[in-house]
Amino acid sequence: MIIAIDGPAGVGKSTVAKQLATRLHYRYVDTGSLYRAIAWKVLRAGVNPSDHTAITALLASTRISLTPDPEAPCVRVDDNDVTHEIRTAEVSHMASVVSAIPAVREWLLPVQRVLGAEGHVIVEGRDIGTCVFPAASVKLFLDADSEVRAARRQRELVTAGASVPLDRTQQDMDARDERDRTRLLSPLQPAPDAVVIDTSALSLDQVMDKLMAVISSKR
Ligand code: DC
Repeated sequence: MIIAIDGPAGVGKSTVAKQLATRLHYRYVDTGSLYRAIAWKVLRAGVNPSDHTAITALLASTRISLTPDPEAPCVRVDDNDVTHEIRTAEVSHMASVVSAIPAVREWLLPVQRVLGAEGHVIVEGRDIGTCVFPAASVKLFLDADSEVRAARRQRELVTAGASVPLDRTQQDMDARDERDRTRLLSPLQPAPDAVVIDTSALSLDQVMDKLMAVISSKR
């Protein structure tokens, strides 16, 4: 069984996806971390993301691996463990930029499909139900108001020790969402058969209850 969880930034996908994977004893694949890994390499190599020839050449010499463990997801690019470094604001921005490049999406498609191939997996992203696993058994799309998402993201940043003003967090997130929703290839949108859940007014426990109810009804 493949469970796809899509939705915009800051909606709380990772928190619920990890909890679900732990509860169901499933593997957990955060596809955003793969886009972040490429962004990390682009930044480190100093490649201009509008130079698609250079991006294609960079991809040809790139290896990415991900440990699909919800308790300790680990991302490696070539020989570097980038698990923590890919969480900066700079990498978030670049991940959204490189994710609009067709060569990047094409390169990551088989990587994601291999990671999900064995089943018993929760796959989180933007286009999992529409493009990566269109035949997933369960498709969930989480959404929430922009203010609520910015506040959630802000709490995560503060917990991680960063001090960024809330309005800046919201601006960055809104810009990223706009880019993710309007790109030509696999834009962020619910699959026609996805269950859409607005989490704006729900606690984490309430979201988990709703998701478990949907999953149970499909098993
Ligand atoms: O989920 P995240 O914030 O870590 O994702 C980082 C960026 O990667 C996001 O701005 C859009 C892109 N992304 C994507 O285009 N498709 C996916 N399946 C996952 C992420």
